Amino acid sequence: MITSATIDKIFETARIEEVVADFVQMKRVGGNYRGLSPFTNEKTPSFYVSPAKQIYKCFSSGNGGNVVGFLMELEKMSYPEALRYLADRYGIEVEETVQTDEQKEQRSRRETLYLVNEFAAKFFVGLLHKHEEGVGVGLSYFKERGFTDESIKTFELGYSLKSSDALAREAQSAGYQLDAFLELGLVMENERGQYDRFRERVMFPIHNLSGRVAGFGGRTLRSDKKIAKYINSPESEIYNKSKLLYGLYQARKSIVKEDRVYLVEGYTDVISFHQAGVTNTVATSGTSLTVEQVQQIKRLTNNVTILFDGDAAGIKASMRGIDMFLQEGLHVHTLLFPDGEDPDGFARTRGSEVLKAFLRDEVSDFLLFKTKYLLAEADGSPLKKAEAIREIARTLSLMPNEVDRDVYIRESSKLLETEENLLKGEVERIRAKELKSRDKQRERKPREQKIEVVHTPAISEKDIPVTYSQEEKLLELLLNHGHKMLNFILIDEHGALTEPSDVPESVASYIVQELEADGLTFQHKAFADIFQPFHEAVLEEQPLPELKTFLRHEDPDVVKQVIDLTDERYKLSDWEKKGIYPKSRDVVLEREVRESVLRFKEKMLQTIIEQQKNRWEEEGVGEEESAEIFKEIAQLSDLKRMIQRMLGQEV
Ligand code: UTP
Ligand code: MN
Repeated sequence: MITSATIDKIFETARIEEVVADFVQMKRVGGNYRGLSPFTNEKTPSFYVSPAKQIYKCFSSGNGGNVVGFLMELEKMSYPEALRYLADRYGIEVEETVQTDEQKEQRSRRETLYLVNEFAAKFFVGLLHKHEEGVGVGLSYFKERGFTDESIKTFELGYSLKSSDALAREAQSAGYQLDAFLELGLVMENERGQYDRFRERVMFPIHNLSGRVAGFGGRTLRSDKKIAKYINSPESEIYNKSKLLYGLYQARKSIVKEDRVYLVEGYTDVISFHQAGVTNTVATSGTSLTVEQVQQIKRLTNNVTILFDGDAAGIKASMRGIDMFLQEGLHVHTLLFPDGEDPDGFARTRGSEVLKAFLRDEVSDFLLFKTKYLLAEADGSPLKKAEAIREIARTLSLMPNEVDRDVYIRESSKLLETEENLLKGEVERIRAKELKSRDKQRERKPREQKIEVVHTPAISEKDIPVTYSQEEKLLELLLNHGHKMLNFILIDEHGALTEPSDVPESVASYIVQELEADGLTFQHKAFADIFQPFHEAVLEEQPLPELKTFLRHEDPDVVKQVIDLTDERYKLSDWEKKGIYPKSRDVVLEREVRESVLRFKEKMLQTIIEQQKNRWEEEGVGEEESAEIFKEIAQLSDLKRMIQRMLGQEV
């Protein structure tokens, strides 16, 4: 575990506005920064970062939190991953507490795999620069291809020796067990023993988004057709082919800055583009595009340009994959390189200026490109043309935005020389069918959920308890007015309000003691976590927790709730918003606290009563038990009526 001293240091050092700026373009607006939400597809910016409070708030997705929460939400990092990322970014040394063996094992599994990959990557880099074979074969190959030292360094390129087990031996002499190497596929095993997967290849490490080495690609330098040109790491706990994009780690900032990504096919295309100054380039590494990859891109930009080799063989095959971008609401452009040229070759032979001009001038809109392509392919055949129209309609039907869809329907129908209404009708028909089948899928879901609820009486983390808004209100009071000392009105045993107590009590103490007296706890997971330290502080007569401790909480939901609950708008109390200015605010606050407690109790009672009623109605309940339950329900109902009287809701 990371020590709390390190966590404090990370929070003190990290500036949310700097960290967010790596992912989102923002402008200063007053004391805050504003930009387009990285969580949604919005067109008008409603994503804010407050440097003063060190939080972000996204009004279009409802997300909000601190810098760690931002990384967890956007990059799907775990809490420790996010802390490590920040420590890394700000050069903070991470101290770890001693862990139990079990903790160690759990946390270190993935960590071990990363360390092993990083060990291998370093080994390959060392060989490329220092080993005779590496320099003579690997480095000279890269130089011949025109890769600069800077590129070689940025992409951590390396070389694996011809020897069958150089890595395995190096690992063992460094004191490693080979298990993790086998798991990562760096070392393989057969009857004759262990041997390296990558031999006599130039090595391309594949980094994940936080810059750690997840896997490798290795290119042979032999022209022997029987040897695979590239081999890659097999899937492992840390290498998920369908999620990773080659070069995304290196390209990320520039994708955000340029608000566009160039998608190419191979490792070398990415590197050559970077070298030519087009650093917002990533590759799918020869596999077809996945939804996960599209979503990764979508977090950084809405604009994708897909670059096709001049041979064009793969174009048709990749078209369906590209539809996925449209489905996610991204804007897609395509660009076809001249015959026989691939992006890498073009960048290398023509240079940076020509490449940039080409990328600027030769792009075409994907949908129109696809339309023209299919039309040319139909070559006048009416049957094939009808097929092309249906295919275009299918693609159009995927576009989520109606305005976009309409514009494209108009443009495509012109190209296809077909009635706009005909194409529109076809698109609507497909969409209606699609919606229907989606509805069917939805129909099935609630039933499953209900069963789950029946079998798990405890309220799970995600479920929203019936007492949600009552708990929320109490926390709002605790967080914003917990310290306030008030003379609470005493209630007698019949539930009648009497005099204000002459001993003042804090709002926090009142709420905690009241709930404690009835043995009530919060049902919502995050709320309970926020309530807990107040509960503890009051009962142990310790100072109340500070707001900032919640903003550093491990659970992003806690952080988000605390931010929402301490939002400015809560500071303006309801009565002020309504224009009512009481003689004394304290009188109103006292009443609000007292009644909020009562409302929570009322709701809890109601829930328990319902539970008991259900029990009573259940089959197989014996006569005696039935009478017992009935009595309980009666008592609880009395209590509930008393509370309702106190709340002035006579029934
Ligand atoms: P290419 O054959 O176009 O390779 O495959 P390249 O990157 O242009 O390499 P050079 O220019 O010949 O050196 C494109 C991508 O497909 C994947 C690799 O990611 C490669 O970069 N690929 C290709 C494989 O994974 N395995 C293969 O056998 C071939
Ligand atoms: Mn190539």
